[in-house]
Amino acid sequence: MELRKIDIRLTGESQKLLVREASGVVSEGESVGILGKSGSGKTSLLSVLGLMSKPTGGELLLSGIPTSGLNDAELARRRNEDIGFVFQNYSLIGHLNVFENVALPCSYGKPMSKKQTTEAVTEQLHAVGLEGFEKRRPKSLSGGEQQRVAIARALVRSPRLVLADEPTGALDTATGLQILEHLASATSRAGACLVVVTHDQEIARAMDQTWVLRDAELHHEVKGRR
Ligand SMILES: Nc1ncnc2c1ncn2[C@@H]1O[C@H](COP(=O)(O)OP(=O)(O)OP(=O)(O)O)[C@@H](O)[C@H]1O
Ligand SMILES: [Mg+2]
Repeated sequence: MELRKIDIRLTGESQKLLVREASGVVSEGESVGILGKSGSGKTSLLSVLGLMSKPTGGELLLSGIPTSGLNDAELARRRNEDIGFVFQNYSLIGHLNVFENVALPCSYGKPMSKKQTTEAVTEQLHAVGLEGFEKRRPKSLSGGEQQRVAIARALVRSPRLVLADEPTGALDTATGLQILEHLASATSRAGACLVVVTHDQEIARAMDQTWVLRDAELHHEVKGRR
């Protein structure tokens, strides 16, 4: 994934430039933690990276392909098949059981067969240590277990890019780090990019790169690789 001078301007009265010329490269298998104060534009940037909104300027490349020229159908296809999302809270569907929640992305876009779906869901639930939880409802799970289900769901279609917005906000740092370690190693093994927005400096700095959004600018923290 590559950001080339991405601008994000707020619509409405203020027209404020929320993000100015943000640039960066995330190689296949690499992870990035994004830090920034509340209101600094982290979620807005993530929604651009997830093709849910268009930047005001600049170019976003996914797997080397510029996305500014894609039409709505092509954007939707990439969102469904190539991108996995993990959100902070309430991201699981309450009336669906764990299996059905993880299987949701398999029916988007080009649907996967029932056999492929069962195999992929089983593999992801095993990877997060939740085999045997298939029939449970989200509300019967702990916060950490729910977040592991959300991670299994984000990975079930083997996305090229995984985006996580405060995925550990409701958890203590130790549990959060454990969950992020799993997410980082699973995406790295699959050769996918991982972008994690977090308030937790320890978590952000455990990623391969750390970016900080401050005064509309995206700063890259210099450090050694993990
Ligand atoms: N659709 C919108 N219209 C107008 N303003 C918006 C819109 N979406 C976001 N904003 C504003 O843009 C700023 C950045 O919002 P954003 O959600 O990206 O921040 P954030 O860094 O994710 O904050 P937090 O850490 O609190 O989640 C905020 O001031 C917000 O009020
Ligand atoms: Mg946010």
